[in-house]
Amino acid sequence: MRLLAIETSCDETSAAVLTGPGEVLSNVVLSQDEVHAPYGGVVPELASREHLKSIDLVVAESLTAAGVRVSEIDAFAVTQGPGLVGSLVVGISFAKGLAYYFRKPLIGVDHLQAHIQAAFLERPGLPYPVLALVVSGGHTSAFLLKEPFRYDLLARTRDDAAGEALDKIAKFLGLGYPGGPVIERLARGGNPKRFPFALPKMTDRSLDFSFSGLKTAALRLIREEGVAKDSPAFSDFLASFEEAVVRAVMVKLERMAEAFGPRALVLSGGVARNARLRSRFAAFAAANGFEAVVPSPRLCTDNAAMVGSLAAARLARGRESFRSLDLNAYPR
Ligand code: KG4
Ligand code: ZN
Repeated sequence: MRLLAIETSCDETSAAVLTGPGEVLSNVVLSQDEVHAPYGGVVPELASREHLKSIDLVVAESLTAAGVRVSEIDAFAVTQGPGLVGSLVVGISFAKGLAYYFRKPLIGVDHLQAHIQAAFLERPGLPYPVLALVVSGGHTSAFLLKEPFRYDLLARTRDDAAGEALDKIAKFLGLGYPGGPVIERLARGGNPKRFPFALPKMTDRSLDFSFSGLKTAALRLIREEGVAKDSPAFSDFLASFEEAVVRAVMVKLERMAEAFGPRALVLSGGVARNARLRSRFAAFAAANGFEAVVPSPRLCTDNAAMVGSLAAARLARGRESFRSLDLNAYPR
């Protein structure tokens, strides 16, 4: 079985060729970071136009890298949502055209489920139940998987996503886009205890995440303490903010792990590339006897291999009903 997967939910144009859930022949990712950097965040219309410009090249490159002709593909997979609709539509239309012309099945894949799948791609035997966190620029959500392909939403963010908070503070400080990796680099060696951030408290004891309070507190500190690129406490400030975002994620993860008794933990999404978060996550899992997986960094950020892996796993299960050409995009 040869499968071609396409991902265009946000600002990465990506295509991958797989022969099974864990067999990735190619995974080409074209980032639009340079296009959006001057604006400090993703500009949806520019994202759609960039996808439109590069989708055929990215798909062609993924086929060449895999040594496979498009006529040899047995099934197509594409991200259906959630994401930017204008971006999703480019990938979906392209995949529909291919599936239609070659008369092959088309499988629609949920973007958050695909992020979680990145962990199974690299560690297929993870024991269930699995508690999975997707922490990215668009989402901060937690799911309990009691069995394969069943995703129970436990919590989501009530306002900003974790990566969005990092991106917005980086934008305010003029550090560029995406903010997460820049903050991580500039925070290195800084004192994370120098600026204390109070963690958000849900009055209703909810497990939901919230990052807008941290963002507001950071903006206030920047003004009151005169924090700027050239101030001596700059790396301390960034380390403190990064630490606060990590703690806000970990506090909820720890409560959910206690409440739902999973056997394995998964951390995925773009922010899962962050070293501080990765090490805190690994330490918690080790101390409490959980099997834990954080995908390798290039599988944490948006990519088509994770999309293809989930489609291949669903195909292998043999219960797939093909909706093919009536497939539609969903934003949320
Ligand atoms: O998963 P992703 O590629 O796209 C979405 O589905 O949102 O995640 C992108 C997000 C951005 O907010 C970016 O700042 C963040 O992931 N990110 C990081 C790091 N690398 C990417 N955040 C913290 N540390 C990093 N090293
Ligand atoms: Zn994503």
